[in-house]
Amino acid sequence: MEIKIAPSILSADFSVFGQEIREVLAGGADWIHFDVMDGVFVPNINLGVSELKSVAKAVPAFYDVHLMITDPARYVGVFAAAGANAISFHVEAQGDPRETIARIREHQGVLAGIVLKPATPAQAVFPLLPLVDFVLVMTVEPGFGGQKFMADMCPKIEALRAEMTRIGRPEMPIEVDGGIDAQTAPLVLRAGANLLVAGSSVFGAKDRAAAIRALRTAQ
Ligand code: DX5
Ligand code: ZN
Repeated sequence: MEIKIAPSILSADFSVFGQEIREVLAGGADWIHFDVMDGVFVPNINLGVSELKSVAKAVPAFYDVHLMITDPARYVGVFAAAGANAISFHVEAQGDPRETIARIREHQGVLAGIVLKPATPAQAVFPLLPLVDFVLVMTVEPGFGGQKFMADMCPKIEALRAEMTRIGRPEMPIEVDGGIDAQTAPLVLRAGANLLVAGSSVFGAKDRAAAIRALRTAQ
């Protein structure tokens, strides 16, 4: 399965936002992971609609928007209009996930992803797998960059890959987010993930292109 690298711009220098994104794109990034937090679903407030709108206009890329917000269905439309190419939301958030997926489907070409917090079992999203384009497994508690990778999330990734195979979608992307670097990437790749989000390990590196390469070739 093709490995994709999605640097999380939560760890970028926001004073030179566009420049940071251009740099990781030049360094081989496939997607740009754009974290959105509302201060309620997670104890942090960060990027929002205006930032996405400006940056998506200035720097063409595939914007992978991760909504860590209480009422995702309500905001899908504005993020899609602002330039999101993929929108993922938490199964633990308010509202019927099917309804939120339906909102995403109103925007042609925008991929829909479902996200699980560390405490949520794989089985919680099994009924939704036929309805989404990818699954995002959190490998830290959502809210902050720079936390320690939770290796005990690997069996969850394996369970998701097994269920995807069982329902006839063996190649469905599994994204992982939190504490991913060249040391932890092989563990999640072996478990069946193929989309690697990396914040601090990419933006914290002097040579970002080398950090992206190291993730892609990790095994
Ligand atoms: C955490 C965010 C992540 C975060 C990852 O809530 O969803 O995308 O930026 O950062 P690192 O790679 O530093 O753990
Ligand atoms: Zn994220």
